[in-house]
Amino acid sequence: MMQPVAAEMIQPSLQQAHATLPDLVMGSSPTRCLYIHIPFCRVRCTYCNFFQYASSKTLIEGYVAALKQEMRWKAAMPWTQAAPFQAVYIGGGTPTDLSATQIGEIVSDIRRLFPLTPDCEITLEGRVNRFGTDKFEAALEAGVNRFSFGVQSFNTLVRKQAKRFDDRETVLAKIQQYAGYNAAPIVIDLLYGLPHQTLDVWQQDLADYLESGAHGVDLYQLIEMQGLPMARMVEQGKLPHPADTQMKATMFEQGVAFMAKHHQKRLSVNHWASDNRERSIYNSLAKTTAEILPLGAGAGGNVMGRQMMQTRDMDTYIEAINNERYPVTMLTMAPANRAVSAEIKSAFDAGVLAEYRLDKVAGRGTFSALTPLFDAWQKNGLVYFEKSGLENSHQNRRYLTLTLAGQFWAVTLAQNLIEVLQKQPIEVHAA
Ligand SMILES: C[S@@+](CC[C@H](N)C(=O)[O-])C[C@H]1O[C@@H](n2cnc3c(N)ncnc32)[C@H](O)[C@@H]1O
Ligand code: SF4
Repeated sequence: MMQPVAAEMIQPSLQQAHATLPDLVMGSSPTRCLYIHIPFCRVRCTYCNFFQYASSKTLIEGYVAALKQEMRWKAAMPWTQAAPFQAVYIGGGTPTDLSATQIGEIVSDIRRLFPLTPDCEITLEGRVNRFGTDKFEAALEAGVNRFSFGVQSFNTLVRKQAKRFDDRETVLAKIQQYAGYNAAPIVIDLLYGLPHQTLDVWQQDLADYLESGAHGVDLYQLIEMQGLPMARMVEQGKLPHPADTQMKATMFEQGVAFMAKHHQKRLSVNHWASDNRERSIYNSLAKTTAEILPLGAGAGGNVMGRQMMQTRDMDTYIEAINNERYPVTMLTMAPANRAVSAEIKSAFDAGVLAEYRLDKVAGRGTFSALTPLFDAWQKNGLVYFEKSGLENSHQNRRYLTLTLAGQFWAVTLAQNLIEVLQKQPIEVHAA
């Protein structure tokens, strides 16, 4: 359903988009975020597909210079200046591998050059390895107000086998230290299903999250992709098999039960907060129709209905920026039903699909027309229906809520629903 833009039209199309002022409907500003990509890691972890370049001082210096140039260039565009951004995410790769000075300069440039809302969330992603107090304090000083650290597992054996550097005690102590600054929410990622990660290890990982004092946690199931170093090591007998689907489902179940037992606030099907400080603005906005201005090699985004991927190749990226050309190799015009896919993705991420919201973007009657599919899901224990309000009243609203099993399969269910709507357009009435 995506319409690719011909290669020779990519530059003019993006120039036009960034020169355009968005429609500012009376008093209402568009939802928009900045995504900045730092494509370096010291070593590739065995389970990860995000690795691009090994951290090297000279490579990073050249990249940061180009990135700062891209920021100055894009910040000056009419589209950029027309409205404030609600969230900034500096992701990777491993942004915490940058030096304290580089982190400070990038964040200061963002705050100086781009219009940001007063409560704009500014996240720095990475890990605690070689992220000392000098870097942490430089980031805070420059304006980072949220940190997302990939922990994956606290268990020393699981970590070492995954090529993570620090042992359990070191990671735990660092998270405790940074949470103890009481200056910004510290959020961690935990993976479940890694080799050597038994159910006992998983229970300890969950307990360690509480022990760490972190303000929030994401529980991600391990996705096995082709070509991961992990797959080769398993084949060669150097690593035990990672968990199968059934085992991962049990781990998810245990994670959900653990969070409920310890009164963690659930913000989505796989994200919890320990207090009100963690808001997870970027993650929730990125799943809606929010526009995202991408910066850096390998960043993706969408501006004025154009969905783009910036090149991952460092030389191509730097050359494009030096010539004030968009480093974009793939551009598609967002399909007319982008709002529908966005609504479905964010609803399944939240664990509930509301009839009135789906019908608003997809047309009246869409939810009803999908009943055979929803019934099949219900029979398989993935969803259940809830109603609010009186029967036959206008206030009666229907919701499709994910069961625990449905939450485990949330991404797959959302994808299936989007495919069904694309393949079999439903005859509906204008909303
Ligand atoms: C792009 S990484 C960046 C994090 C940071 N560089 C680090 O070392 O933790 C973001 C998150 O993706 C998740 N991730 C990486 N590989 C994954 C996989 N195969 N399946 C599921 N999640 C994965 C990890 O939880 C990781 O924290
Ligand atoms: S988990 Fe982080 S450090 Fe490890 S390869 Fe992936 S992006 Fe790099």
